Amino acid sequence: MKGPFTCRRRGPLRGAFEVPGDKSVSHRSLLFAALAEGETRVRGLLRAEDVHSTWKAVERLGARVREEGSEVVVTPPARLSEPEDVIDCGNSGTSLRLLAGVLAGVPGLSVLTGDASLRRRPVRRVVDPLRAMGAVLHARDGDRLPPLVIQGRPLRATHHVLAVASAQVKSAILLAGLSADGETVVEEPALSRDHTERMLRRMGADLRVDGLRVSIRPSRLHGGEVDVPGDISSAAFFLCGAAAIPGSEVTARGLGTNPSRTGLLDVLRAMGADVVVANERESAGEPRADVTVHGGPLEGVTIEGALVPRLIDELPVIMVLATQAVGRTLIRDARELRVKESDRLAVMGEALAAAGARIELFEDGCAIEGPTPLCGVTVRTRMDHRVAMSMAIAQLLAPGGETVLDDVACVDTSFPSFFPILERLSERA
Ligand code: S3P
Repeated sequence: MKGPFTCRRRGPLRGAFEVPGDKSVSHRSLLFAALAEGETRVRGLLRAEDVHSTWKAVERLGARVREEGSEVVVTPPARLSEPEDVIDCGNSGTSLRLLAGVLAGVPGLSVLTGDASLRRRPVRRVVDPLRAMGAVLHARDGDRLPPLVIQGRPLRATHHVLAVASAQVKSAILLAGLSADGETVVEEPALSRDHTERMLRRMGADLRVDGLRVSIRPSRLHGGEVDVPGDISSAAFFLCGAAAIPGSEVTARGLGTNPSRTGLLDVLRAMGADVVVANERESAGEPRADVTVHGGPLEGVTIEGALVPRLIDELPVIMVLATQAVGRTLIRDARELRVKESDRLAVMGEALAAAGARIELFEDGCAIEGPTPLCGVTVRTRMDHRVAMSMAIAQLLAPGGETVLDDVACVDTSFPSFFPILERLSERA
């Protein structure tokens, strides 16, 4: 869908939906398969623009990617080659940062760039550790912003202590460590999503996890099968919408329930929502389940510390949910929200305040007093898919209101079926 969009739906939300493939796992499946020996068959790959950026990038590095029915098969090159042209990562920070880690060890010159939003997002966090490993990197504006130019080199194994919990930075370093000359170690201050560790280990990497410390030795990866779980960051919009609207009952089927990603379920329970987890299973190293949420009264909660990386991408829609909870919801330690596809604290703060929420912003979070009825608003989405989808959910809470999203093309970066599912679960206002 392109251009402006007027949301005119109302709750309650009712029904079940199949959650589309997890974006983080989808990126990793294509990229790691391109580094492996032998083919990899991926089931449930997310078909969305961000993952397409990684798909194009691995093809540019010499991999072949083909569709076979609903599966995607990756045939790696004998060895990754210097790309002939600039690699455009579009809107995808994960593509850019993970590719940086891979390309740091590939002899030759690579240039990574992206759209206007990605070119405003920080890269110093990968430049510094990869330089310490011996790669030569340059970026715009004093090495702060993409484009990123990488001269790949034989890499030294080093020890990195991260200032922020970031799965993208952790993964970039681990991927560089695959070809370094010894043991590479990354320590993070809190656990960020661990899909890289799980998938690399399954593919044969010599990787060890000890609490918040991950180490990797040079390894050969082997292709195989990947089964992508449903993306909790996408399901979150409907789970939060259902929790906030009495009379709702929504089931997300095949939801990824990796504990490093399920902070949202903990928050829903702490707010008093009825959350039922059924049919728990594990496939290709990632747990999944069917999760049902019922609407009901909610209470404000505090979200801070180690919980934040476990729900970082869900915070925009949690901010919407908080407007309906009784009392104060406090979000702290979430400064990272300011360097996502947009400054999500500022953009969501402005949109929710315009819709009637009582919200106070801090440098690292916000406080929201609820419950407040919301009204329809015109939202500048700033090319941020999660802002657009969160405000479409906010419109459900604006009785009789219309919300105009100035541009919904961004939704296709992660969740092209968002509006069709919303239509199916809700009613016309
Ligand atoms: C991601 C990690 C997170 C998250 C992003 C996807 C990943 O970013 O916000 O949407 O796939 O590794 P950070 O690593 O910057 O926290």
